[in-house]
Amino acid sequence: MKIAIGADHAGFELKNHLVERLRAVGHEVEDLGTDSGASVDYPEFGRAVGERVASGDVDRGVVVCGSGLGIGIAAGKVAGVRCAMVSELYGARMARAHNDANVVALGARIVGQGVAEEIVDVFLATSFEGGRHARRVGKIEPT
Ligand code: RB5
Repeated sequence: MKIAIGADHAGFELKNHLVERLRAVGHEVEDLGTDSGASVDYPEFGRAVGERVASGDVDRGVVVCGSGLGIGIAAGKVAGVRCAMVSELYGARMARAHNDANVVALGARIVGQGVAEEIVDVFLATSFEGGRHARRVGKIEPT
């Protein structure tokens, strides 16, 4: 899969870990930064990942900040992005199966590397169930 990933300073280390891991298992990863632990503003990185996903050039996005909330909200503001803020595995699976989420947001101050890895694995591996869920997802649109 092609995956765009971005983080602010609070998500920098977890983002780097996920980039390495995703590449190691054969995914094509676009790392959109941030590139250090220096303080930055999460909306820029959430938007950047969201725009890559919305363009259709990448299949999925992963965004990381301290809580996963700010960067997830920012990514989800891009038209065509359905960003799910997830901190456990049921949510990771449902975000795909029922909501057809195309970006997952993680909080580096909430989940450790191990849980984050499993969330991303499940998020990438789970298919959208379609059917009644497609009708509902189709009703999610900007106002
Ligand atoms: C940075 O301190 C923190 O506010 C940010 O990473 C994120 O958690 C915001 O939602």
